[in-house]
Amino acid sequence: MKITQLTSGVVLTAALVAIGASVAGAQETLRSLAEERGRYIGAILNSQWFGGGLPGQYEQIHKSEFNVVVAENEMKFDATEPSQNNFNFNNGDKMVNYAKQNGMRARGHALAWHSQVPGWVNNIRGKDQLLAVLKNHIEKTVGHFKGKIDEWDVVNEAVNDDANHGWRSFGSVWFQNIGAEFLDSAFVWAHKADPDAELCYNDYAIEQGIGPGSKAGFVLDQVKRWVANGIPITCVGSQTHVEDVTTAKEFIGAPDSLRHFAKELAKLGIKLNITELDVGFKSGINVSKEDLARQGQVYRQFMDVFLEEPNMGVYLIWGVSDKWSWL
Ligand code: G3I
Repeated sequence: MKITQLTSGVVLTAALVAIGASVAGAQETLRSLAEERGRYIGAILNSQWFGGGLPGQYEQIHKSEFNVVVAENEMKFDATEPSQNNFNFNNGDKMVNYAKQNGMRARGHALAWHSQVPGWVNNIRGKDQLLAVLKNHIEKTVGHFKGKIDEWDVVNEAVNDDANHGWRSFGSVWFQNIGAEFLDSAFVWAHKADPDAELCYNDYAIEQGIGPGSKAGFVLDQVKRWVANGIPITCVGSQTHVEDVTTAKEFIGAPDSLRHFAKELAKLGIKLNITELDVGFKSGINVSKEDLARQGQVYRQFMDVFLEEPNMGVYLIWGVSDKWSWL
């Protein structure tokens, strides 16, 4: 078996074992097991899929193993509004049609993010002008997919990675010109455009504890404030990218840290979704059987937490196979 198939096989087998399925129950899939539990397990549709260039195996695995989908790149700001007030939803429509044809939940990724912002936005200055741009983007995009996208990453990666975490300013046209209120406004506008959609704040490295000074702790404080102020957030997305499982010490306690975070969010009536899970290796190394077993073990540990915490609804892997992984 090629490493790719082996990796996928290991991942899927490990997850099946985690769910308590016998591997011998071959007719069972991750999808059937998740559906029995009212949960969603999924993976991205990537650029090759949208371009029609992926072998059928990818889509066949995707349809049979998963029941929630998200576009890796095709619904980001630069893809959906490449020039001002000129929207291109073709790829998003392709995804939601595929999702509905295959009985899948659909995630929209992402409305307000400092990255993948088209050049024309970066040329606009002035708080009111940028608020109008973001409002129009959200109203037109969420409005177009109303009733078809079940949950949105309304704001992505707005917290910085400084020692004492705060809002991300560097590289963020939104924060630099509007300030932190762009987050509150984004949620209000998204909710108005589709009152039935779940609305998530999505970020990375928030699976490493909510202690004092932690990134997740800062996020939790903001969620408490949003809930108290009636901002219509319904979920936090933990991206959970384990970029190098062979040396990633910070991930040793991550599953339990994520469980603790989920429990705190549950007190606020907020869901915690795993939105971009991948467990990678330093590129160029010879991946051993032990490495693959460790990879599967890490997927399993997050799967255990996911199944045991009642406010965790989505377990989404950022790619069906290592072959096309961003890592
Ligand atoms: O489509 C163009 C292609 O026409 C061009 O030839 C090629 C070379 O320049 O670039 C292609 O676009 C690339 C795109 O992926 C599609 O492959 C962009 O350069 C590249 O920056 C983009 O990377 C994506 C990255 O987000 C930045 O948007 C990754 O695929 C994607 O996996 C990654 O996903 C992010 C989540 O959105 C947010 N959380 C972190 C996660 C990993 O970085």
